[in-house]
Amino acid sequence: MHDVPFLDLGAQYDGIRREIDKAIASVLSDHAFIQGPHVARFEQAFADCIGANHCIGVSSGTSALTLALEAVGVKRGDEVITVSNTFFATTEAICALGATPVFIDIDAGSGGMDPDGIEPAITSRTTAIVPVHIYGAPCDMDPILAIARRQGLKVVEDAAQAHLALYKGRMAGTMGDAASFSFFPGKNLGAYGDAGAVTTADDAVAERVRLVRDHGRHSKYEHRVVGGNHRMDGLQGAVLTVKLRHLPAWTAARRAAAARYVNLFAGSAIRPLRPVEGAESAWHLFAVVLPEWVSRERVQEHLERRGIASGVHYPVPSHLQPAISGLPGCGPGTLPVSERLARSVLSIPIFPELSDRQLEAVAGALIEACDAIAPMEA
Ligand SMILES: Cc1ncc(COP(=O)(O)O)c(C=O)c1O
Repeated sequence: MHDVPFLDLGAQYDGIRREIDKAIASVLSDHAFIQGPHVARFEQAFADCIGANHCIGVSSGTSALTLALEAVGVKRGDEVITVSNTFFATTEAICALGATPVFIDIDAGSGGMDPDGIEPAITSRTTAIVPVHIYGAPCDMDPILAIARRQGLKVVEDAAQAHLALYKGRMAGTMGDAASFSFFPGKNLGAYGDAGAVTTADDAVAERVRLVRDHGRHSKYEHRVVGGNHRMDGLQGAVLTVKLRHLPAWTAARRAAAARYVNLFAGSAIRPLRPVEGAESAWHLFAVVLPEWVSRERVQEHLERRGIASGVHYPVPSHLQPAISGLPGCGPGTLPVSERLARSVLSIPIFPELSDRQLEAVAGALIEACDAIAPMEA
């Protein structure tokens, strides 16, 4: 047990136990286990909350991204421009459609897609761009959307980590042609199992996702297209509806914690990754870049000895994963910023219930670790 866990879902449940238990009991008594009214209620509430025309609940963030890409027209043989500094699911969704991910580098300050890399990566086969709002920080969407418009490309936001994140007053998940969210339990808005959603302003995209998530069914016995089973469970819809009511307050608490960390690290050798100009992160993760002279492993050991959990997002970027080593452009040396960050980022605890005492203990221990650890051997 850590004094400061990476995330405290137990404390979260303690705060909302009565509401959650009641919501679960109502699914059991309605026996509305798959899709149904609890999912429909959540879809409407989430769409209203972020200002999307449509929200379609699905079985995971990975399904959401796959279905969103398919619905905007990505098909076998296409190329999709994305980043390597993300969870591998971003790549998998593109590959699942028979398309090829084309990785571009990231901005060293925020860790998000560097828009300058997009145009040089476009070929006659490029059909879409997937910016990933990594750590909860929206990518620099204005230039990304401008390039997409100019080049006739679709934009699908991977907003898996970015519930309620803002970019110049717009919510993550409302800026592209479609967007995907994950409600994996550890996400800012987490289900009690796997769940995800697609959001879009486009009626045709929404209709396509609704069909494909449920065996292409238009009515019980009419399958209009070949789809699959990507449905959301009623229990997840009910849990998410309860949690969504708390999300604005939880997000505010994460923002306050992030601001406090930024102050505490000012003047130290630790550099927090920061959202781009005009963006307000949802702070799913608080990632810092460690100074070159320390070994990340030793820093993590130091934190561990003080009862502090930490993580790395992500130690192996997607373009260096064995699963896709045969793809063109994959391999060491191709994305210098992504590769450098993969070696030096560290994620420290951030969650709404994190107390000031815990937060100060984390910052103090991290600064102490970087001061105490001898330079790495050359
Ligand atoms: C950036 C990103 N994309 C996609 C996914 C996939 O979501 P899920 O785990 O719900 O399938 C995740 C979740 O971990 C993620 O962090």
